[in-house]
Amino acid sequence: MKEKFNKNNLLNDERIIKAKELINDTIKEYQSKFVNKINASSSSMKKNLDQAKTLRGGRLFFPYISSGLGNGSKVLLTDGSIKLDFINGIGAHFGHSLEILRNASIDATIEDTIMQGNLQQNERSFELMKLLISTSKMDHCILTSSGAMANENGLKLLFHHAPGKQRILAFEDCFMGRSISLAQITDKAKYRQGLPSTIDVDYIPFFDWRSPKKSTQKTIQVIHRYLKRYPYQYAGICMELIQGEGGYNIGNTEFFKTIIHIMKNEKIPILVDEVQTFGRTSELFSSSHFNIIQDIDIITIGKLSQACATLYRKNLTPEPGLISQTYTSSTTAIECGYQIINYLIQNHHFGQKGKNIVFGNYFNSLLKKIAKKKPNKVSGPYGIGGMLAFTPYNGDPVKVNHLLMRLFQNGLMGFTTGSYPQRIRFLLPLGAVTNHDIEEAIQIIEHSLK
Ligand SMILES: Cc1ncc(COP(=O)(O)O)c(C=O)c1O
Repeated sequence: MKEKFNKNNLLNDERIIKAKELINDTIKEYQSKFVNKINASSSSMKKNLDQAKTLRGGRLFFPYISSGLGNGSKVLLTDGSIKLDFINGIGAHFGHSLEILRNASIDATIEDTIMQGNLQQNERSFELMKLLISTSKMDHCILTSSGAMANENGLKLLFHHAPGKQRILAFEDCFMGRSISLAQITDKAKYRQGLPSTIDVDYIPFFDWRSPKKSTQKTIQVIHRYLKRYPYQYAGICMELIQGEGGYNIGNTEFFKTIIHIMKNEKIPILVDEVQTFGRTSELFSSSHFNIIQDIDIITIGKLSQACATLYRKNLTPEPGLISQTYTSSTTAIECGYQIINYLIQNHHFGQKGKNIVFGNYFNSLLKKIAKKKPNKVSGPYGIGGMLAFTPYNGDPVKVNHLLMRLFQNGLMGFTTGSYPQRIRFLLPLGAVTNHDIEEAIQIIEHSLK
């Protein structure tokens, strides 16, 4: 090459810009034929579902197979039905067929490789790391490809930093992932059935909003009991600030600060798992939402960020070799993650008057009205911002699952959270959701409760 290569010249080459326009216009044309259709041809879907069951060795939870075309909060399935998607692959999607992410994906395909890895990385990997470090004010960032791996790497940092210490503190009903070590911490026996025991975990009660002072006192008592029983044996504490799988239970700043105070006195580092909450509260990091980020030693993120990450303080820097992987993430995930974070920041999603809180409050207020009208059928809502849930039928899992499937048939996708009471939760498509989508979801919920 005679001239010095400048990637921006390539990305801004008018042929690439025109090609993007052509792709986007074509997709818009297909989207314009997108009609709201609930009933669908069940025979084609059944065939696809049977095939999925054979391939996976188990059936899918929902009769959901995407056609590959969506329109913001909605997605077209292969049977021709359209769903209002308020669960988004449990928080992994930002919306369906979004132009901003399509453009980011095209930019990623222009890069020389499909995946990025620890040995060879592109510039955008470092820009994403810089963005995560500057917004969290952590010192370092390790990219990876799943929330579970981000937590695995976080745990490694904790144990590596405290050789000989074998125990971890965690909240009751927490979820950290399903690898062999994380299934041990995740507080659900079913998820570790038949697996060998790996880490010694001691569980402490989570905050109970119905009795804030009493529940905080109880948690402190339990922590002190463990610290007495196992002195100097804790490598760290793992905290989820809003329990994603555990029922959308939400803590408060005082509760977390009280625990942090004890941990600091005992020199026990704190890991906050933000895999589900990332980008969904009043701040990019839920640790900032609760105003405790300055005291946190490790933050793990995933889902909405597409590429996952472990952010950590420099005193936890590991020896070379402890943490590495072939893949840090796909080039597309890294590019899209970068664009999603910037979109949320630039489009005023954060702050007490930011869109996350405003959309969440609107949905919350309408769910409250249903609970008021039908107190024997609905209680709640729970959660905040882009994470909201309600308890139907006193949380009876059989009835809740029936309602979840009725919602699906009627065109709204949610998912369950918690065990007993079991709730129905929603993770809003923050790159697309409108008040109109929320009103439509409420209509479907009311209709499905009948
Ligand atoms: C709080 C939390 N931590 C960790 C994970 C694991 O993430 P992944 O499924 O990407 O491995 C999840 C996934 O649901 C989660 O909600």
